[in-house]
Amino acid sequence: MTCNIIILAAGKGSRMYSDTPKVLHKLAGKPMLGHVIDTAQALSPQQVVVVYGHGGDQVQREMAVYEGLDWAEQAEQLGTGHAVQQALPKIVPADVSLVLYGDVPLIKAQTLQALLDQAASGALAVLSVEPESPAGYGRIVKDSSGVVTAIVEEKDASDAQKAIREVNTGVMAIPGAHIEQWLGQLSNDNAQGEYYLTDLVAMASEQGVGVTSVVCADENEVAGVNNKVQLAALERHYQRQTAQDLLLAGATLADPNRIDVRGQLQVGRDVSIDVGCVFEGNVTLADGVRIGPYCQIRDSDIASGAQIEAYSSIDRASIGQAATVGPYARLREGTVLAENSKVGNFVETKKTHLGKGSKANHLSYIGDAEVGEAVNIGAGTITCNYDGVNKFKTTIGDRAFIGSNSSLVAPIDIGEGATVGAGSTVSKEAPEQQLTIGRAKQVTIRNWKRPEKK
Ligand code: UD1
Ligand code: CA
Repeated sequence: MTCNIIILAAGKGSRMYSDTPKVLHKLAGKPMLGHVIDTAQALSPQQVVVVYGHGGDQVQREMAVYEGLDWAEQAEQLGTGHAVQQALPKIVPADVSLVLYGDVPLIKAQTLQALLDQAASGALAVLSVEPESPAGYGRIVKDSSGVVTAIVEEKDASDAQKAIREVNTGVMAIPGAHIEQWLGQLSNDNAQGEYYLTDLVAMASEQGVGVTSVVCADENEVAGVNNKVQLAALERHYQRQTAQDLLLAGATLADPNRIDVRGQLQVGRDVSIDVGCVFEGNVTLADGVRIGPYCQIRDSDIASGAQIEAYSSIDRASIGQAATVGPYARLREGTVLAENSKVGNFVETKKTHLGKGSKANHLSYIGDAEVGEAVNIGAGTITCNYDGVNKFKTTIGDRAFIGSNSSLVAPIDIGEGATVGAGSTVSKEAPEQQLTIGRAKQVTIRNWKRPEKK
């Protein structure tokens, strides 16, 4: 079945107290609207129309990563019905139209599919929920046989209607053929002077078109965000769910309340993750990987048995089997560590390949470097890869030994098995198997006296 999806995102979000349009505020590292678009696209619609108002340019710019979106402007926010009217020119009216909200980020495709199925068989299907308190929501009014006849907004409701527990989430699937006619008949003759989308329910009911409500069991799925308190609450809910999925997949989490996943985290068997870690983008942890506390890992693959110690930052890197990293390591984009290699505390790497079993254990910067196998890079070694304009490469052959506090001025080659004496500044090739030292000769001035105070 094909459908149109209309996402309402015109609200200003005054209660966010922010210059960022509400729907661009992030949940798990992704704009709320992005979550809704992802869910919408999972339903394979033929149109996704986003109704924007405030901050439209910014919203369109940030959503440019999504293909095939249509945009409809709602210059003035005259109500949810008016908002859907703006999308009409962009949809195929003969198909089912599903209305979603850019500030209701956690709605699930499966829930929406149930609504679409109802609408496909000709009914107007509304998604409802039974919250602790129905205050503020439109109430689902049913006749004595349980058929939905209307949705009445709180401000228009009688006391008897206010007592109804089942309320409107706003999400609705409108069967094909009627949408233009129904939207055309909306009036703003109500307590708020708005064009209510919810009035479609009474119209359908009067015309003998079936109306059904599908009750959503999980309030978080249909929770909207109006302020930072609600955003934070949904963020925690999302993170707890993610932590639970990881536990069910076999990961050991030191504390499921202290992990944040902003993207996709894949775990193998016997992975353990200590507290306070943040995973961003696509991260894979293979079997037996152990992550120490307070690490930040983004778009990286970590092979089996590797160990990341506390406070390490890893970005766009690939870490080989049984390699060890940290504590306090910073691996930047293009870092590739081969199996059994080691990068220790206060070492920064960038666009660097470290061969099998090679080590840089302390206080180094290694950038734009090709390092062979079983190399030892002493404490304080720096690749001087940048002349202020261009970047240059350093290559270090297998089994080379770089003495502590050496500066390797790139472009430079250090040969296989070469040794560089500690404290050297090396700017020419260090030949293989030889000792190269580039530092001032040590001298001792005999009989030298310190000046004395008179
Ligand atoms: C709406 C429903 C109500 C439901 C509630 C659930 C109507 C008339 N009422 O009420 O039954 O219980 O949601 O939260 O539909 N928006 C626009 N343009 C507009 C107006 C709204 O894009 O002109 C967007 C808002 O940005 C928001 C959403 O639609 O994302 C809901 O609007 P809001 O004004 O919050 O509706 P409610 O009065 O809460
Ligand atoms: Ca609302």
